[in-house]
Amino acid sequence: MTKKVPTPVPARHVLWLGWKLVILLSVALCFVALLRLHFSPDLSSPNSLSRPARVRSRISGGSLDGIPKIAFLFLARLNLPLDFLWGSFFENADATNFSIYIHSAPGFVFDQSTTRSVFFYDRQLTNSIQVIWGESSMIEAERLLLEAALEDPANQRFVLLSDSCVPLYNFSYIYSYMMSSSRSFVDSFLDVKDGRYHPKMSPVILKEKWRKGSQWISLIRSHAEVIVDDEVVLPVFKKFCKRRPPMDTGKGKLNIKLQKQHNCIPDEHYVQTLFAMSELEGELERRTLTYTLWNQSAAKMDNKAWHPVMFNYADASPKKIKEIKDINHVYYESEFRTEWCQTNSTSVPCFLFARKFSRGAAMRLLSEGVVGPFEASALLGNSS
Ligand SMILES: *[C@@H]1O[C@H](CO)[C@@H](O)[C@H](O)[C@H]1NC(C)=O
Ligand SMILES: *[C@@H]1O[C@H](CO)[C@@H](O)[C@H](O)[C@H]1NC(C)=O
Ligand SMILES: *[C@@H]1O[C@H](CO)[C@@H](O)[C@H](O)[C@H]1NC(C)=O
Ligand SMILES: *[C@@H]1O[C@H](CO)[C@@H](O)[C@H](O)[C@H]1NC(C)=O
Repeated sequence: MTKKVPTPVPARHVLWLGWKLVILLSVALCFVALLRLHFSPDLSSPNSLSRPARVRSRISGGSLDGIPKIAFLFLARLNLPLDFLWGSFFENADATNFSIYIHSAPGFVFDQSTTRSVFFYDRQLTNSIQVIWGESSMIEAERLLLEAALEDPANQRFVLLSDSCVPLYNFSYIYSYMMSSSRSFVDSFLDVKDGRYHPKMSPVILKEKWRKGSQWISLIRSHAEVIVDDEVVLPVFKKFCKRRPPMDTGKGKLNIKLQKQHNCIPDEHYVQTLFAMSELEGELERRTLTYTLWNQSAAKMDNKAWHPVMFNYADASPKKIKEIKDINHVYYESEFRTEWCQTNSTSVPCFLFARKFSRGAAMRLLSEGVVGPFEASALLGNSS
């Protein structure tokens, strides 16, 4: 082994080298600081989001000349079992006033072999993903729907619907209701008993901005853009808001570990929390347009598993539907807040849609003329 012999360096050179190093280090530090500034969500308050200034090809709302449309966004597992009812609903609309987008299983195509209504032909997204109910893939699917619908500048309202949702009114009623409000309808509240917030979400999401609410939202265009443009909150949700897997005794010890995991349902928190962080709560009607009946007795037996009640033919009586349509306020127990349902400061019924409806129940709504004049052809599938 040869030993390295250091060559002698004059003291002046050493000093110069030292200075060079100091200068280089300062420049590097400045650069790092700049980068951090650039990527932190907001400078003034760490927990509010500034609107991203990202250049987008999409046209922002406001400069629309034509007729404003409602975009109906369907989140489906596969097909749309209540297509016959929606078909009749859209038949009583003006084709210029709405658009339809469906997120279904990847590769599932809506055509005459999979749907009875022409309105759904080829309305599926081509970039849909595999959705696992209760996981963050659900909010990613919602984002894909919003992103697709934002491509059309005529879309000014965006309503998210499940495959078991029904309309409670005809199209023109729903259209003027939604258009008369310049706010989004987002059910959003504080839940003091809620243990779903994960401390590790801090500092991006602070506990005081954590919100809960129904997944079934209706948005104005600028709010839809906030969701699609979010690159800060979603990654944190993906990492820390996860559903606890169901009990599986076959897994032994691993199961015990999994059961201790934090339990969180992303789609009941994401939009609400994002909007609270974005200081948008003043632009919301803090309620949902979609009625859900919760099974209280199931809740008593297992207080973690609230289940929506499925309406069958017998439950969808005109009396019951009228009761739902007559609801004019909602009470939020955890906030002691009563929401008197309004659009543009006028009292209105709270709900335009309801879930979960079976085919039989939807058939009954159709024959009662809820969505428009009843035509038997709607049931036979040759409604075009
Ligand atoms: C739609 O429903 C509203 C309220 O239920 C009703 O007043 C109106 O006449 C209906 N319009 C059409 C075109 O059926
Ligand atoms: C379609 O939109 C126009 C313009 O907003 C409105 O006047 C008309 O009533 C709408 N049609 C229906 C069926 O809602
Ligand atoms: C809200 O109501 C006011 C006053 O009644 C009216 O001038 C305005 O056009 C309404 N806004 C919408 C979006 O309908
Ligand atoms: C409510 O849940 C209980 C227990 O799971 C079930 O037996 C009952 O049928 C449910 N009720 C309705 C109306 O779905």
